[in-house]
Amino acid sequence: MKGKIIVTGGCGYIGSHTVVSLIENGYEAVVFDNLSNSKEFILDRIKEITGKKPRLEKVDLADEQQAKAAYKKHRDAMAIINFAAYKAVGESVKEPLLYYKNNLSSLLNTLQGQVDNGIENIIFSSSATVYGEPDVLPISENNETKRPFSPYGNTKKMAEEILEDFSYANSNFSAISLRYFNPIGAHQSGLIGEFPSGTPNNLLPYVTQCAAGVLKELQVFGNDYPSKDGTPIRDYIHVVDLAVAHVKAVERLVTNKNKSNFEVFNLGTGNGYTVLDIINTFESVANLKLNYKIVGRREGDVTALYAATNLAKDELDWQSKFDLEDMISSAWKWEQNLRSGTKFSN
Ligand code: UD1
Repeated sequence: MKGKIIVTGGCGYIGSHTVVSLIENGYEAVVFDNLSNSKEFILDRIKEITGKKPRLEKVDLADEQQAKAAYKKHRDAMAIINFAAYKAVGESVKEPLLYYKNNLSSLLNTLQGQVDNGIENIIFSSSATVYGEPDVLPISENNETKRPFSPYGNTKKMAEEILEDFSYANSNFSAISLRYFNPIGAHQSGLIGEFPSGTPNNLLPYVTQCAAGVLKELQVFGNDYPSKDGTPIRDYIHVVDLAVAHVKAVERLVTNKNKSNFEVFNLGTGNGYTVLDIINTFESVANLKLNYKIVGRREGDVTALYAATNLAKDELDWQSKFDLEDMISSAWKWEQNLRSGTKFSN
């Protein structure tokens, strides 16, 4: 056993895949989760995949006392991977205080937990949203960060600034912020995947729910962008590739390979696909026709976002392995499994 890693939000989408990867790489993963937007049965699924059921601390990390007690109990952890946060862009626009309070308090309580207990390393779940509308493509980590379009996005940018200040003031603590492009897909077993509550906001769960008959029609937000087919370009990345990158980031910190005590890395494939590429690939992978229609642009959408991937390759020794078909077929397998008898309770 290589040591204990705390995964906040470990029952969630990217968190659960990362827990699997940690266990597969010999770490003990302890999940901190309040289950506000995730399901406990995911831990049984993780056991089905890895043979080990991770321990769960049911804790609301935005609550100072609860967070204090949980971190004290696991003061022997080598690192924390921080996924616990609200993530619905539209909701954050309507309820900014909810987002700032939850996402920032839980981070502050986590950093305090590190100080109180001497847990030296943290990996933070960030987003390409911190680049706003980029001036230069592909987007490298040297691109200027800008005010994101939503309070959700702004919590990511503010969290990075907090981490930078924290690392500067405390030289024995190290942080890595991982800026995800567009995470999609599911574990190849079909046992864990994205579990959006209510109507999904993101493209892929919308596509798979339409195909499964849960939703009636997919709306394509605009076909008048300057791209090959008029629809926006994104860098879709398989969630299992993302999970592996988190393990690499943990290894970098625990073996002191980091070059400064606050580092940021993009996590993307470097390939850009349009919305229609996604639809066409889905139709060919699933062998069915999607019911979709072109509508007006969605506010806040930009034409193109895709990553420069060389820094993660050189420094983290990580690059994506899965292609678009793998991403889409695994997401479809997960959606079909979900609809064929999974109990949504507990
Ligand atoms: C969105 C968020 C981003 C967040 C990321 C997390 C916005 C503006 N950005 O990124 O801050 O970090 O999710 O996953 O919400 N699309 C449709 N129809 C749909 C849904 C999406 O055409 O029903 C299109 C969008 O216009 C976009 C592409 O699909 O071109 C991808 O959209 P989405 O999955 O929501 O991701 P982003 O907007 O890139």
